[in-house]
Amino acid sequence: MTNTNASVLWNRAVSKTCFNMGIGCVNGYQASLPGQFVMVGLKERFSPLLRRPFSIHRLNMKDGKVQSIEILYKVVGESTRLFSALKAGDDISVLGPLGKGFSWQQSFKRIFMAGGGIGIAPLLFLLDTLKQKNADLTDSLGFIGGRSADDILCAADMGDLGLSVRISTDDGTSGHHGLITELMEAAISEKKPDVIYACGPHPMLKAVSAIADAHRIACQISIETMMACGMGACLACAVQGRKDDATYRHACLDGPVFHSEDIRL
Ligand SMILES: Cc1cc2nc3c(=O)[nH]c(=O)nc-3n(C[C@H](O)[C@H](O)[C@H](O)COP(=O)(O)OP(=O)(O)OC[C@H]3O[C@@H](n4cnc5c(N)ncnc54)[C@H](O)[C@@H]3O)c2cc1C
Ligand code: FES
Repeated sequence: MTNTNASVLWNRAVSKTCFNMGIGCVNGYQASLPGQFVMVGLKERFSPLLRRPFSIHRLNMKDGKVQSIEILYKVVGESTRLFSALKAGDDISVLGPLGKGFSWQQSFKRIFMAGGGIGIAPLLFLLDTLKQKNADLTDSLGFIGGRSADDILCAADMGDLGLSVRISTDDGTSGHHGLITELMEAAISEKKPDVIYACGPHPMLKAVSAIADAHRIACQISIETMMACGMGACLACAVQGRKDDATYRHACLDGPVFHSEDIRL
């Protein structure tokens, strides 16, 4: 983990409310895992005081070395509004990589990846990593859900990386008119996957976990609890375990990626 003063390399709008930021972080990111995150803060401002957590969206490599990292973020409040105004060359502070990421086994042949809204962010890094490991994705599916067409991000990227993509929107403005979990249930009834990877809003993760339980499918979810320090010091990110002892875990240290059977949503 490194605490870096880094430069913004680009900061582009990708939809009405979402931006893709390239950050010149190099040292310490070589061994980053998909699902890990960074805490990003503005320089020379006292407010907002706390850095904010964002999944590593992509890791850009050249000749085996990290050139930059990317985050994909949605403007929801003060920090993200200020981030959206940053320009190439501006300085930010970045702490990372943090947390535990997704795990993968060679035996996973049929993989389902489900991203709800901005929850798609860590799944592109996961997909890039699987491609590097020469995972065969021909029997795998990507699911992208959102409230409306404007919330559907990265569908073309996922397709380019070899996933067959199914889209749903709550208002029917793109893809299936309904929930991402309806598409997933239909695909499971055709053939069960070996694993589900999911990131998105809490109700979606709860529904995906219930599906995984019902069909006895391994399921890894990346949760987005509120975080203050991102490194185990403040207890802001406690999540309750689902096993008999129901002990609390830190989403920032023990997660943000958990096996869905391990935590109570
Ligand atoms: C591990 C992790 C990874 C994340 N990755 C991404 C990512 O890749 N892209 C992205 O856009 N966002 C991501 N988030 C959420 C992101 O951190 C928040 O949107 C951000 O902190 C909001 O900051 P703000 O100052 O703009 O808004 P604030 O003023 O802090 O909050 C604005 C509104 O958003 C709500 N909010 C803030 N944080 C969260 C949260 N974590 N979950 C749900 N609601 C929240 C607040 O309750 C409030 O209603 C991630 C969160 C975590 C914990
Ligand atoms: S965010 Fe502080 S302990 Fe997890």
